[in-house]
Amino acid sequence: MFQILTILLLEMQLPIISALFTVEVPQQLYVVDYGSNVTMECRFHVNGSLNLSLLTVVWEQKRQGELKRRDVYTLRKGKVLSSSQHHDYIGRAALLYSELKLGRAILQITSVKITDAGSYLCLIDYQGADYKYVILEVKAPYKIINTQIMRKAGEDKFIFMCQSEGFPLAEVYWQNEKKFNLSGSANTTYTLTADGLYNITSIMIFKPNMNENYSCVFWSKELNRETSAHISALAVMSTQSSGQKSLILFIIPMCVMVAVLLSVLIIFKKRKSFKNGQPKKARKRKLDCDLKDEKRDNCNSQTEALYLSTVTASRDNGSVHL
Ligand SMILES: *[C@@H]1O[C@H](CO)[C@@H](O)[C@H](O)[C@H]1NC(C)=O
Ligand SMILES: *[C@@H]1O[C@H](CO)[C@@H](O)[C@H](O)[C@H]1NC(C)=O
Ligand SMILES: *[C@@H]1O[C@H](CO)[C@@H](O)[C@H](O)[C@H]1NC(C)=O
Ligand SMILES: *[C@@H]1O[C@H](CO)[C@@H](O)[C@H](O)[C@H]1NC(C)=O
Ligand SMILES: *[C@@H]1O[C@H](CO)[C@@H](O)[C@H](O)[C@H]1NC(C)=O
Repeated sequence: MFQILTILLLEMQLPIISALFTVEVPQQLYVVDYGSNVTMECRFHVNGSLNLSLLTVVWEQKRQGELKRRDVYTLRKGKVLSSSQHHDYIGRAALLYSELKLGRAILQITSVKITDAGSYLCLIDYQGADYKYVILEVKAPYKIINTQIMRKAGEDKFIFMCQSEGFPLAEVYWQNEKKFNLSGSANTTYTLTADGLYNITSIMIFKPNMNENYSCVFWSKELNRETSAHISALAVMSTQSSGQKSLILFIIPMCVMVAVLLSVLIIFKKRKSFKNGQPKKARKRKLDCDLKDEKRDNCNSQTEALYLSTVTASRDNGSVHL
């Protein structure tokens, strides 16, 4: 800030040169996704070859509602001034040097954060000074929705949960296949993550109709986009019957295992009494294998029931077909 004042004061003493020098912006508004890279540009006039030692470029950011400016990148008389750079931009902000000789002061910011949003001032002093502002907007669409279904203990109701992260804040509504809005009883809460994203969790507790599929929809006007996660009736059913199913899944293999063990014993004893142990070893190993397979199958089918995968779909500002 002081630096700019100094430069501006200096230029006021040289009003004739100042008047000739202008900074232009080819693009005033940049809208980028969280995590992406952005390059913002200011143009100035270079007469012939660039004399770097005469060039000062200052990029500063001001967040909405804040008075303080943050130093993003400073090149002073051809030298990088890193001491004043705000820590948030260390390693993420760069001036594209190869473009300077063409009169383009291009600031690149990598891995854009929510906090990078705001107005950026670019001030250029090259035997005359001028400045312009560009605006950076950062959006984080609610791309991935995590879903979970749990049975409410001792009731025939289910707990449906949808969770996602994004920016700005989105509304969550629930609907069935006929687009009937179910959101009345939804409990939607959010927290802010360290990265400035909204972490939204929406919980619905109700008794689902087993013939229906349900979905939760994350909608944001600013993002001009809605993202939804579908929860199929099939998934609900597999959650519901998991209690009985797992019991059956446990009993059947147990019976099979007992039977196999018994037959192993019988065969073993018979062999022993007849031949006194010739192909014993090979035979025993095979039976052990069968036993292990049996166990593994049992494990697999027990865990499959509880968690489910859902399909997430998103589209720009359109209605979702369930
Ligand atoms: C952003 O820039 C960095 C460094 O130039 C590069 O490694 C990365 O792949 C870029 N990311 C995207 C999303 O373009
Ligand atoms: C560019 O530089 C030349 C001399 O090097 C000068 O004659 C000319 O007036 C300059 N043009 C501008 C626009 O500054
Ligand atoms: C919604 O959930 C939050 C935290 O999970 C809880 O504190 C709050 O009481 C709930 N509100 C309603 C209306 O159920
Ligand atoms: C978002 O919230 C959920 C629970 O509400 C939590 O499990 C998860 O870790 C949170 N994610 C982040 C990135 O904070
Ligand atoms: C629910 O969704 C599943 C898979 O997406 C589909 O196979 C099934 O037909 C749907 N059920 C109804 C009642 O539409």
